[in-house]
Amino acid sequence: MPRLRLYALALLAAAAVIIPGAVAPGARSAIPRIASTHSRMEGDAAAGQAVFLARCASCHGEVGQGTALGPSLIGVGAAGADFELRTGRMPFGGAPGAQAVRKPPAFDDPTIRHLVAYVASLGEGPSIPEPRVQTASVPSGQRLFIANCAPCHGATAHGGAVGGGALAPALDVATPVQVAEAMLIGPGEMPVFSGLPQGQRDAVVSYVAFLQAQPNPGGVSIGAIGPVPEGFAAWVLGLGLILIVVLVVGHDWRRGR
Ligand code: HEC
Ligand code: HEC
Repeated sequence: MPRLRLYALALLAAAAVIIPGAVAPGARSAIPRIASTHSRMEGDAAAGQAVFLARCASCHGEVGQGTALGPSLIGVGAAGADFELRTGRMPFGGAPGAQAVRKPPAFDDPTIRHLVAYVASLGEGPSIPEPRVQTASVPSGQRLFIANCAPCHGATAHGGAVGGGALAPALDVATPVQVAEAMLIGPGEMPVFSGLPQGQRDAVVSYVAFLQAQPNPGGVSIGAIGPVPEGFAAWVLGLGLILIVVLVVGHDWRRGR
């Protein structure tokens, strides 16, 4: 019998060594880092329209008026199109009603500019912002972030669950332009923050850039994809381990049962 307890102990010790190592290394690189290729060069709306008809009109309508499968794009502006295309959310690939998630962009930079020019031509809307990232505005940016963004994205922007099954993503890969765009357009379940003065929006962008420059604060990271999956992983690993130990200790080895 003491031999069996030893087995159980050895199993526990091995698990303690193996599990953190299996989860941690390189986990933060799960989302590909997308280089900011934003430039002020204008796209060609006509070239954009051709791509739009082939790749977007099935859901957004021939002239962007919207269908049952996708909202109207009249008034989303260059900022809306640029954000959705550069974060790879569009063209949408999920089940109807599912959340649009960040992916590598589906189009190269010139094609994105053409599409952006076409969508912007559909109606008056916000243009692509040019945020000023400044170290000096990090403290005020932090206050604004805690008040306006942390309830969903978490105080350190590691993401979290919001209502309706949606997830506020970690902000570890969004570029300054994308952070500024998100505030202007409010993608998905996110509210619009265009009511904040531009100086305050730039301060928030500066704080997010500051957070991104911080080294990983440590602990087991599973890609910093948010508290719900992280907690879930802990439960599954922990319960599985307890179950194994209980089975080993409880087994009547002498009778072979
Ligand atoms: C399979 C259907 C589908 C296709 C194809 C598609 N979209 Fe969408 N699009 C959606 C849905 C659904 C939403 C709303 C998603 C959300 O709430 O985040 C959306 C949202 C958007 C938005 C944000 C609208 C807003 O009000 O903020 C833009 C901009 C957009 N799409 C552009 C495009 C462009 C450009 C293309 C082509 C490259 C495209 N979409 C292809 C379904 C689609
Ligand atoms: C009510 C919850 C909520 C609040 C408050 C909120 N967000 Fe969001 N945010 C979301 C959700 C949900 C998404 C995912 C959008 C989608 O489904 O396309 C998102 C997406 C984003 C993205 C895109 C990230 C990426 O990598 O693609 C950025 C950037 C962002 N938010 C910044 C902010 C900032 C900055 C603030 C504060 C000014 C803020 N958010 C406040 C819920 C929120």
